[in-house]
Amino acid sequence: MDFKYGNPTPEIVFDAKNLSGKPIEKIERKIMDLNMIFKDKGASETMDQNQIVYEVDCYFPVENDTEGGLFFGITRIKPGKVGDEYFMTKGHFHSNRDRGEFYWGLEGEGQLLLMDEKRRARTEVIKKGSVHYIPGYIAHRVVNTGDTELSFGACWPSDAGHDYASIEEKGFSIRIVQKNGEQHIIKE
Ligand SMILES: [Fe+2]
Repeated sequence: MDFKYGNPTPEIVFDAKNLSGKPIEKIERKIMDLNMIFKDKGASETMDQNQIVYEVDCYFPVENDTEGGLFFGITRIKPGKVGDEYFMTKGHFHSNRDRGEFYWGLEGEGQLLLMDEKRRARTEVIKKGSVHYIPGYIAHRVVNTGDTELSFGACWPSDAGHDYASIEEKGFSIRIVQKNGEQHIIKE
């Protein structure tokens, strides 16, 4: 990364849905990548496996695992459900458990699920203008409970890492489903 004193040109810019500028890494998560996270496995297996559930634009200004650096991303979750459960991100703890993260809402509306290592969980509404500080040792997942795309920003330490395996194995202790047109939190 070059550093020019007084250079006003940002390296990247974002709007409500996208990052652009320096090389941005794009990640796609399809139904086929997420079958294990939804409650209704039968429903996910009958869906188009290539259907995109969410996409992430990431900016990695330093190497992965660099101590003291930061990463930046924008995630877009499509509206939709698997059975009665809303589309959501895989969710993770950080591999380096004590690393925190910021999320902030850009468009749409949903719920941020937060869970500690004792599986105690709670939710926060994520929507345009909301800011969420996620402390270390807390797993995090975002659920799109709306009818439109939900997009949110994220900034996390470059040495945080992602532990997806713990969540794939045990899941979160709560899920968000739609019943009679309304969102409900159910316990596992
Ligand atoms: Fe994270």
